[in-house]
Amino acid sequence: MDSEEILNVALRLAKQSETPADTTINVPAKDVKRTLFGIDVDAADLLVAKEKGYDLVIAHHPTGGSAILEFPKVLSKHGDILTRHGVPSDAAASAVRELQEEREPRAHAENYDHLPSVARLMGMGLMCIHNPCDEIGRRVMDETLRARLPREAHVRDAIAALETIPEFRAAKTRIVVRMGKAENPLGKWAVHHGAGTNGGVPVARAAFDHGIDTVFYIHIDAGALRRLWEVYGHEGPKNLVVTGHLASDSIGINVLVRELRARGLRVDTYSGIIDV
Ligand SMILES: [Fe+2]
Ligand SMILES: [Fe+2]
Repeated sequence: MDSEEILNVALRLAKQSETPADTTINVPAKDVKRTLFGIDVDAADLLVAKEKGYDLVIAHHPTGGSAILEFPKVLSKHGDILTRHGVPSDAAASAVRELQEEREPRAHAENYDHLPSVARLMGMGLMCIHNPCDEIGRRVMDETLRARLPREAHVRDAIAALETIPEFRAAKTRIVVRMGKAENPLGKWAVHHGAGTNGGVPVARAAFDHGIDTVFYIHIDAGALRRLWEVYGHEGPKNLVVTGHLASDSIGINVLVRELRARGLRVDTYSGIIDV
């Protein structure tokens, strides 16, 4: 297999017809036999990979080039998730705009060629597969909840349902209720994952203000959380459940890893992938 074929396998599993903006091949690799797959990859990792005889390193998080520069575009997928859950399209669009405004200066400033340049110097294949894996993971979480939630579910029932997913059981982090309460009714819920990064304050507000009672994020920073507490109350009726970064990322990654292995590729995982 080559890096292009690997990307196509990921797109097919994610049911995507085009490559999302946060996903790219930085250094193409032909006739790949051994690949190293991690959530975050840095320059030292490429050296280890070379020394250990890998032909290709696959990162989950964006590595460079267009995946960094064009990253804010993928945030628009938050708008799709919001509208699918009944949020009016103008409210969804303004949440996306706010997120993109927050993110664009960073994407513009980042060193988009550091890691790719090291890979080129070493002759090591390098690519990142971000949104396709997260989209697969989002779907697994969504379908698991749909299949396992009782009628009149409470937040704790949703956590119990998600904990049937092996990655959550094997992770060293637990699923936590960051806002609201485990005893609260779950109400209308949405998994906000597979859209670049968490939706921060803008997406959570758009959701809570338009009828969604429980939002699932895979991570959130403390500043955003504090602002949400100020609006909705730390233990009020609106719930924010945070499922855990590495565990949640691993769900979609593992679907791809298993498929690549089934096609005869040797794929070794590291850097946070919970390989269940
Ligand atoms: Fe991810
Ligand atoms: Fe991630």
